[in-house]
Amino acid sequence: MTGSHNLRFSVPHPIPYQGSKRRLATAILSHVPTNRYTRLVEPFAGSAAVTLAAAHRKMFSSFVIADALDPLIELWRMVISDPTEAADQYDKLWHREREKPIAAYYEIRSEFNADRSPAKLLYLLARCVKNAVRFNPAGEFNQSPDKRRKGTRPQVMKAELFAAHRLLAGKADALHGDFLSLFLAAQPGDLFYLDPPYQGTSQGRDQRYISGVSRHRMIEALTILNEKRVPFILSYDGSCGVRNYGDALPQNVAHRILLDVGRSSQATLNGRDDVTIESLYVSHLLPAKHKTRTTASLNDFTEQATLFT
Ligand SMILES: C[S@@+](CC[C@H](N)C(=O)[O-])C[C@H]1O[C@@H](n2cnc3c(N)ncnc32)[C@H](O)[C@@H]1O
Repeated sequence: MTGSHNLRFSVPHPIPYQGSKRRLATAILSHVPTNRYTRLVEPFAGSAAVTLAAAHRKMFSSFVIADALDPLIELWRMVISDPTEAADQYDKLWHREREKPIAAYYEIRSEFNADRSPAKLLYLLARCVKNAVRFNPAGEFNQSPDKRRKGTRPQVMKAELFAAHRLLAGKADALHGDFLSLFLAAQPGDLFYLDPPYQGTSQGRDQRYISGVSRHRMIEALTILNEKRVPFILSYDGSCGVRNYGDALPQNVAHRILLDVGRSSQATLNGRDDVTIESLYVSHLLPAKHKTRTTASLNDFTEQATLFT
């Protein structure tokens, strides 16, 4: 078993989430100097893969997990304070499908759209196509069930929820809201990891996440962090094969590194040979570790993955 495999299994990741940075967390965190920053702030947290990886390595003493999706933040609050109820509810929801396969999914989806229950969101994310959160213009979750997979088994989910709890309890806060309020509240000692919805997925017809972030707004927000001299690492404008997901940011905002993350699963399904490239923007305030080259591959980080397991 390789180091990167060890890493994947030893860092908990309870919330299945399309776009999770779980596989990239080691590469992202390699830009963080040791013992210099005390708090990691993740304003577009989703499944908080980078926060969990950083907590596993004890890289910061405190964490902020934030997102615009309210029930997701409620779920993180349950994980941080006491995941018993989330685990129990997930178990009951998952077993409902035994009696009514597929029909139970639609029933729970309707219930979620009425009550916004965090445990129901966890169930829907685990059971829906591509673990992809999708809302219609009325704000209703409308993703379909995955008919080939059953979603994380309740015992595994319980273990993951409790493992995440052990990493975050007493150290993390979960906040609901737009990212800008966190930028304005940034303090010395903070380091921000940012993973906003790609330009290509938050504008126009492809409304993947509940709200989008324009390039212009992101540049203005990063200027706030630069003025406060709070460093950040930003995942942005990924491209897949010939399809480009957005325009590059100006060089004075941050240094851009292109990360080759291998073939995308979607491209593999479509029989194409595309390689996914992710842009990582590293604040000029961080040491010039990889600044001499502009591309890196995930394999470059296998060594570090082994070190951290
Ligand atoms: C690409 S996903 C982040 C995935 C995350 N890095 C992970 O590892 O799971 C982007 C997230 O930003 C959130 N989001 C969208 N617009 C936002 C806004 N204006 N303020 C805060 N969060 C927002 C979405 O709900 C979504 O969870």
